Amino acid sequence: MSFFWDGRAHTLRDQVLMPIQDPLEMDEALESVINKLQSKTDYVTHFEEVFGTSGINSLNISLALEQFVHSIVSNKSKYDKFLKNEATLTPSEERGRLLFFKRYDPSAPNAAFANCVQCHGGPNFENDDYMNNGLDLEVDIDDIGRAIVTNSSNDIGEFKVPSLRNVELTPPYMHDGRFETLEEVVNHYSEGIKYSPTVNPTLLSISNLGPLLNEQQKADVVSFLKTLTDYELISNSKYSDPF
Ligand code: HEC
Repeated sequence: MSFFWDGRAHTLRDQVLMPIQDPLEMDEALESVINKLQSKTDYVTHFEEVFGTSGINSLNISLALEQFVHSIVSNKSKYDKFLKNEATLTPSEERGRLLFFKRYDPSAPNAAFANCVQCHGGPNFENDDYMNNGLDLEVDIDDIGRAIVTNSSNDIGEFKVPSLRNVELTPPYMHDGRFETLEEVVNHYSEGIKYSPTVNPTLLSISNLGPLLNEQQKADVVSFLKTLTDYELISNSKYSDPF
């Protein structure tokens, strides 16, 4: 498991320090973060309680942030409750669920399917891999993605398959935020797959069959995606602004 769209951070403790320093994000020197924390008695005390005499330094900041991020576990969405027989899906959510998990079956060519599970499978709806989901023609790929890290032309245009938990809450979508809504995302998979040498072959061959979903089926898949929102997590005061 690595982090960022191109997987350039190998561990969470490496990852958490990067947005602080990235010029496009917080653009801050770690030294100055340490100085700021050292000027707050609360932080000095807490760091001492946890890390003893080593106190506030960049390693300890990364360990503390890593631990905090590890504590954010989402397992109370409507879909999680459905799996435990504690919630019932609406007819549209249920149709969306069946489409999401259904792969192409050549022996039943007329059966509806959305094939999302091919990549967004498992308990977190991801596969710990980097793939090209057909966003751009080869000439239009200006962010080479995973290839930045691996230096391999086989990885050009591949990005981390993201978890879909709480996806409703985090527009815009894809590595460059090109889609504003989940409806646009589902339209992409239904009829917008573009060819480039690394595009996933299954995605490509399915797209050659014609539009994947009709309007009702698209709405159903979106309804299902919204069952992955964990309202208990987002209203948990543990994760609200402490200041
Ligand atoms: C072949 C693998 C593959 C399949 C099949 C697939 N996806 Fe994806 N999905 C990806 C990859 C890779 C990304 C990230 C691409 C990027 O940003 O360049 C992604 C991104 C997304 C995102 C954006 C998430 C975000 O936080 O920005 C959503 C939503 C999504 N997929 C939903 C679906 C749905 C719904 C289906 C089925 C209709 C589906 N995917 C099928 C590989 C796949």
